[in-house]
Formats: sequence, C-alpha cells, structure tokens
Amino acid sequence: MKQYMTVSQAITERRTIRKFTQEEIPFETLKNLVYFASLAPSASNIQPLKYKIITKSDACRMFPYLKWAGYIAPEGDPKEGEEPTAYIVVLADTDIRKSGWEHDCGASVQNILLGAFEQGIASCWLGAIDRPKIAEEFDIPEKYYIDSVLAFGYPAEESVAEPKTESIKYYKDENKKYHIPKRTLEEIII
Ligand SMILES: Cc1cc2nc3c(=O)[nH]c(=O)nc-3n(C[C@H](O)[C@H](O)[C@H](O)COP(=O)(O)O)c2cc1C
Repeated sequence: MKQYMTVSQAITERRTIRKFTQEEIPFETLKNLVYFASLAPSASNIQPLKYKIITKSDACRMFPYLKWAGYIAPEGDPKEGEEPTAYIVVLADTDIRKSGWEHDCGASVQNILLGAFEQGIASCWLGAIDRPKIAEEFDIPEKYYIDSVLAFGYPAEESVAEPKTESIKYYKDENKKYHIPKRTLEEIII
C-alpha cells in the first residue's frame, strides 16, 4: 500500500528550492496541483483566481523575468541545467473581484506547494517578477493581475529550517545547503 506523507510532515519538511534536475513534470501532475488550489478557502467563496500552467517546453521563456534569493544574490540563482522545469502563474481575475484576493492567493498557493511536495516536487514561490514582461511573453490579458509565479522541478539542492537567532536572513553553508531561520514560538506567541 502506498504510504502517504502526513500534512504535518509536508508542512514541516517543505522548503523553498531554487535548483532543480531537468526531469520533466507531467502536465497532468501540474493540472492536479491547480485542482488542489481550486479547493482552497476563498473569501465569500468568490474564487477569483485563475492559473496558467507552463510546461518544460516553454519554461525557458519565463526564466529571464524572475529574481532569486535576494539575500544571497546571485549565489541562489539556478545556473544552466538547474532551472525550473515548470511554472504555475497565479492570476487574479479582476472581472470577478477588483481587489482583496491576496488572502485567497496565500491559501491557494500553500495548497499547491504542499501538494507538490507530497509528490516529491520542489518549488519556489516568486513575487520578485517582471509582471509587464510576463504578461507580454505569455499573452496574459489585462484583466488578470499577475500575483506571483510558482517555479517547480525535482530538487537538486537541500534546505533546512532552524530556529532563528540573530537574523532572519537565510544563508548557504559550505556544502551549499540552505539554512532558513524561523522565528521561535517564544518570539511569535504574544
Ligand atoms: C509571497 C512570497 C514571495 C516570494 N518571492 C520570492 C522571490 O521572488 N524569489 C525567491 O527566490 N524567493 C521568493 N520567496 C521565497 C522565500 O524567500 C522563502 O519562502 C523564505 O526564504 C522561507 O523559506 P522556506 O519557504 O523554505 O520556508 C517568496 C516567498 C513568498 C511567500
């Protein structure tokens, strides 16, 4: 019988990954991630979000419009042969809802990232993106606000969360492994 990862495991073990193998992710798998998004909580159940799936054959057209790992740039950039092999662009349909869809985006994206992680697919949620260029490159009509881009691939680096001490800035150690400082419960429960 297939052993499924628990939700707790997915929440605690998922980390942002920015270097990927070049193995292709099947379109059906990506479509299923959008299905997970479609079931996320939505304010007043309006569901204003839409999604554009970009598969491996078109992935190179997205790459120039993304910025990676600001705290350690350019070290965190995926190098040649480490690029994401797929993307999902998260769009707000302003014909359905003019504004106020940011919380919907958060809930939907987290469903996608955790659902991907369960299937061994690593991800990076990107907000530092060139929206006008992406809209032009992928013919995205004006009524869609581009919220963010989700990059996917099978992981080719490691990352671990650890309790924050002085700084919230993530860093890479001598083995190129990411360390992600997380504020402790003592700090965040007031
Ligand atoms: C809204 C949002 C936007 C982000 N934008 C970027 C981005 O443009 N580029 C990038 O490399 N990482 C981006 N990240 C990833 C964060 O850097 C990452 O989530 C954070 O360092 C914590 O690491 P973790 O996801 O492994 O817990 C973004 C994350 C969020 C939630």
